[in-house]
Amino acid sequence: MKLTVFLLLALAALGATSEPQRGSVWPKPQSTVRFHNNGFVIVSINTFRFNVTLNKCDILSAALTRYYKYLSLEREAGYSERVNFRAGSNEVPLGEQPLSSNSSYRGRIDSLEVELMARCEDTPYFGMDEHYELRVDSPDVPLGAKLVAHSIWGILRGLETFVQLAAPSADGTALHMSSCMISDYPRFPHRGLLVDTARHFMPIETLHKIIDGMEASKLNTFHWHIVDDQSFPYQSKLYPELSDKGAYNPLSHVYTQNDVKALIEYCRLRGIRVIPEFDTPGHTLSWGNSHPELLTKCYNSKSPLGPMDPTKKSTYRFIQNFFSEIAEVFPDRYFHVGGDEVSKECWKSNPDINNWMRENNISGLYNKLESFYINKAVHLIYSLNMSTIVWQEVFDNGDTQLDKNTVVHIWKLGSFMEELRKTTSAGYMTLLSSCWYLDHLKSGGDWTEMYQCDPHNFDGTEEQKRLILGGEACMWSEFVDFTNVVPRVFPRASAVAERLWSDRSVKDIPDATQRLDEFRCRLLRRGVHAQPSRGPGYCPGEIF
Ligand SMILES: *[C@@H]1O[C@H](CO)[C@@H](O)[C@H](O)[C@H]1NC(C)=O
Ligand SMILES: *[C@@H]1O[C@H](CO)[C@@H](O)[C@H](O)[C@H]1NC(C)=O
Ligand SMILES: *[C@@H]1O[C@H](CO)[C@@H](O)[C@H](O)[C@H]1NC(C)=O
Ligand SMILES: *[C@@H]1O[C@H](CO)[C@@H](O)[C@H](O)[C@H]1NC(C)=O
Repeated sequence: MKLTVFLLLALAALGATSEPQRGSVWPKPQSTVRFHNNGFVIVSINTFRFNVTLNKCDILSAALTRYYKYLSLEREAGYSERVNFRAGSNEVPLGEQPLSSNSSYRGRIDSLEVELMARCEDTPYFGMDEHYELRVDSPDVPLGAKLVAHSIWGILRGLETFVQLAAPSADGTALHMSSCMISDYPRFPHRGLLVDTARHFMPIETLHKIIDGMEASKLNTFHWHIVDDQSFPYQSKLYPELSDKGAYNPLSHVYTQNDVKALIEYCRLRGIRVIPEFDTPGHTLSWGNSHPELLTKCYNSKSPLGPMDPTKKSTYRFIQNFFSEIAEVFPDRYFHVGGDEVSKECWKSNPDINNWMRENNISGLYNKLESFYINKAVHLIYSLNMSTIVWQEVFDNGDTQLDKNTVVHIWKLGSFMEELRKTTSAGYMTLLSSCWYLDHLKSGGDWTEMYQCDPHNFDGTEEQKRLILGGEACMWSEFVDFTNVVPRVFPRASAVAERLWSDRSVKDIPDATQRLDEFRCRLLRRGVHAQPSRGPGYCPGEIF
């Protein structure tokens, strides 16, 4: 009882009411103008149609089918809310004054005109145009609705916003939508979610749910941390033995080439890039199950094998072949080669490695050995016409040779703002994840801390700030699998999504609390089982 009182007080302190904020948009658009004295229209789902007036393509038709369904789900939620009321008590359902007597009521819209001003692009990519303009019963489109964008990616983001504007009327019979004009675009081009499928295998169905949640959050980059020490679920064309011996189960716990293709397609249709990460030279024990020759033999007691052996030519021949396959399989031009947490103990213990280092004038300089490997890997990736992302250690090693086109990914918690200052002052494009580790748990609404972490909050010039490409929420999977990963990711990753999409000035926690609550309820309606984003409450229309 006391706890309840405390929570209620805590909620009151946040300025929250007991209701999600219906018809609000997450992440918050750059600009929203309301019209007609807070006027609103109704959308009748039975007669509603998308009206495509210019360019069409497969991405657009798939999106219209999807968003029509999402719109219907909002309508159904309003309906079940009314039915639940009837079932739960003898009270008459919440009535509503007849629309005609509501002075803000403007009329009905039957379609959304979708105007894609340019030919559809085929594949999402870094820096794609995501701008859109959405008008609902604005003065220039009275009692109509129109979505305009110069790219299919903008159209996708705009459709998401359109559906989020819809809120069931109090009596559940119709969908209401504010008369408004929204002009919108993202603050950062790279808005990602890392999912680790190596510590625990994630079935494709689970990944689909995660991607559905990303779409709703306007996240545009799926960073697939696909293999690690513990397992190798990627089924290679060239080296199938990697997963045969390295997966938890070589039949059921693998991603076949078809799985990978289908997942990339699922993402493409939603304007989401897929960046593969094959973390090397550390985090590679699972590679050693079938290719022990790639790894360093350790002469200390800890484990027989360590990181990849950077002194052998055969190591580079192998990764050259393997990375060429990856460049073919993954259409995105970015490749994450990892480079984090390389343990030096094993290298130190190996006499062959030490001899090689002596011959190459880097005796005792194990960071230089690591840099030697990474530079080779980075150049290999450039030769495949791809760009590289590396974890921050590669930069921290102080390697002056590191190619300036390499993107540095910051993950360590310590003084990450200082790290952002350093990488950008050295001229490197940078991604932030330190404050967005979803595996770090706190009781209660821990999304607020993630929400408040702004990647521009470091001391640096405008030019340095421009080098911040965005960031990624990270779902490391030591303690999550298909049973709990979706609620752990959402809606917490959506808080990060708003930080990366919306204007820097959007940081009102009470307002965000209400909108995120509503957003979370929408995710539930789409079958994405996001956990509650704040204390006691319920989602209108929730059915079990
Ligand atoms: C679609 O929009 C165009 C352009 O505004 C309009 O002329 C046409 O009547 C609309 N079609 C439908 C079926 O609403
Ligand atoms: C008119 O409708 C709006 C939107 O549904 C609602 O918020 C408002 O309370 C209504 N006003 C009256 C007087 O019923
Ligand atoms: C190693 O260092 C010595 C002394 O600085 C230099 O003469 C030699 O050329 C270097 N060897 C290599 C392989 O870099
Ligand atoms: C390299 O990639 C760019 C896009 O990033 C593309 O325009 C170009 O055609 C590619 N070149 C080759 C040789 O594949």
